[in-house]
Amino acid sequence: MAAEPIRFTIDDVEITALEGQSIIEACDAAGIYIPRLCHHPELEPSGNCRVCTCKVNGRNSATCVTPAAHGMSIENNTKELNDDRRMIIEMLFVEGNHPCPYCVASGNCELQALGYRLGMQAPKEVYQWPDRGIDATHPDIYLDHDRCILCSRCIRASRMEDGKTVFGFSGRGITMRLNIDATGGLGETQMAAIDKAARVCPVACIVIKRDSYRVPNGQRRFDLAPIGSDIEARRKQVKS
Ligand code: SF4
Ligand code: SF4
Ligand code: FES
Repeated sequence: MAAEPIRFTIDDVEITALEGQSIIEACDAAGIYIPRLCHHPELEPSGNCRVCTCKVNGRNSATCVTPAAHGMSIENNTKELNDDRRMIIEMLFVEGNHPCPYCVASGNCELQALGYRLGMQAPKEVYQWPDRGIDATHPDIYLDHDRCILCSRCIRASRMEDGKTVFGFSGRGITMRLNIDATGGLGETQMAAIDKAARVCPVACIVIKRDSYRVPNGQRRFDLAPIGSDIEARRKQVKS
């Protein structure tokens, strides 16, 4: 006997999910955008940024690690949830060093794009201006630790997709840092520019050398359309 379809509602829109899909995967397929940062569609989810938190049957849940289930009622695009998301984004801006106007990732950066989408103005918290340093020891890649938002995408990509263990975290809470598995810098690791881990960073922490301005400012992904609009375009196709 065929399994019952999984149906749930998000912001009063009914979604049909496939067995095994998370809430965010089912919503992506249906063209409903849930803001996210650590989630990447080609990587195992980790649930560590909390930007994708929605109210699921009245309780806050990270939708990238919550399986879709029949009958769920979900709130996503509410003022309360978007205020919480904006607060997380603001905290990431003040914890790192993010001078967007002269950053190589400007226009391609998911953190910057989320700031725009969520209407972030000047953060209220005090800027910490960290000085964690730049690692330029690799011939093809540089690492700017001050831009890292600790999303763990590179760690998951290196381990699960590249079969390497180039990246990891050390410390906890505000002392948490991205580490690499070599004392002499990224140039001493097995990292290659073709690795998945080199292509999934949402900000300008992992940057491919000599590639940054291939697409000029003003013509980059989020210069042309707000973050999430590619997903929302699917909804228009579903409806028409
Ligand atoms: S990484 Fe993103 S948020 Fe940070 S400075 Fe660059 S564009 Fe701005
Ligand atoms: S280097 Fe990039 S992908 Fe890795 S944890 Fe930092 S922000 Fe995330
Ligand atoms: S996107 Fe779900 S916790 Fe980060």
